[in-house]
Amino acid sequence: MTIKQLRSAIQDLKQVALSDISPVAQKQQIYLGKKGQFNLLAKKILDLPLTDRKKAGQLLNDLKSELETILTQTNPAEQEKWIDLSIPGKKPKVGHLHPVSQAINQISRIFEKIGFTRVRYPEVDWDWYVFESLNMPPNHPARDEWETFFVDGPTHPELGKLVLTTHTSNGQVREMERLHGQPPIRMINIARCYRRQQDATHTQMFHQFEGLVVDKGINIQHLKGTLDHFAKEFYGPNTKSRIRPFHFQFTEPSFEVDFSCHICQGTGKVAGNKCRFCKSGWHEVGGAGMVHPNVLKAGGIDASQYTGFAFGWGVERTYSLKEHLNIDDIRLIYSNQSNFLKQF
Ligand code: FA5
Repeated sequence: MTIKQLRSAIQDLKQVALSDISPVAQKQQIYLGKKGQFNLLAKKILDLPLTDRKKAGQLLNDLKSELETILTQTNPAEQEKWIDLSIPGKKPKVGHLHPVSQAINQISRIFEKIGFTRVRYPEVDWDWYVFESLNMPPNHPARDEWETFFVDGPTHPELGKLVLTTHTSNGQVREMERLHGQPPIRMINIARCYRRQQDATHTQMFHQFEGLVVDKGINIQHLKGTLDHFAKEFYGPNTKSRIRPFHFQFTEPSFEVDFSCHICQGTGKVAGNKCRFCKSGWHEVGGAGMVHPNVLKAGGIDASQYTGFAFGWGVERTYSLKEHLNIDDIRLIYSNQSNFLKQF
């Protein structure tokens, strides 16, 4: 043996003793007893050249005193003479899906059950899909409504600039292209959207769910039936939906969609006073309409044969109006406050 090997054997023995969880008396026997590990190692000193023996003696002495300290430490399990099995365990904190993910799952299930297919399209997309194919040519004043974030990137020669999608309607023409302009189409596109907006009912990043149905003979009754079905499934069987005339470039006619307030059941009054939750009996959740023929054309669909309806609602807004939630500022949903989030 060399002095180097002795040093390494000393280190190994120390490590083994440190990690040994046997009772103290037993450990002392194993390491410091007459035939223990320490004495076995100490005998190796005779294998060393005379010049190294003095140093080896010092190292072994140090090891012995360190072992004496190490081996007096009892391990916690040995101190614990008995365990009280009746003490309740410590409940680990368990997380859960974010409320927006819960809402998206619920919305997807409701539409998938009636034959819609969930799709995903880019959230950074070309101007063509977000605006131009939706009947909003460049410089059209209707574009101003969308408070768009433009991406400082390349411009496509045909599809234009890159933008952060302002609405999930960019999926309309993409879905028509995916199906090579061949209806039937029944899509539900749920994705993040971005706008330069921020207040109690608007965030810069939010989610929308977009329905698109295209086939022969599709009319407003199909749209109204679908909205009613969703309102009853999501908010409860007594909920009603209504559509009001509005304007979007990509639908004709266009509507805003409301559903009845669950507090005043659509009457606007509670015990003779104005309902404080809705003020009018109804909540507005998004837009809808019959797909404009120019949009069908942009997606390669023969507008003389096919018609369609589309709708786009905000996920956060739709969810925050659910009974018992009473979220009056949707920014809280993204505030990362665990006290707020763990309520859902
Ligand atoms: C649209 O975005 C249309 N694309 C909807 C549509 C689709 C109409 C298909 C016709 C056919 P609007 O800008 O109104 O419409 O937005 C729809 C909903 O998205 C709003 O009612 C609201 O619920 C939600 N929303 C819009 N902006 C924000 C925002 N900044 N933060 C949170 N939710 C928002």
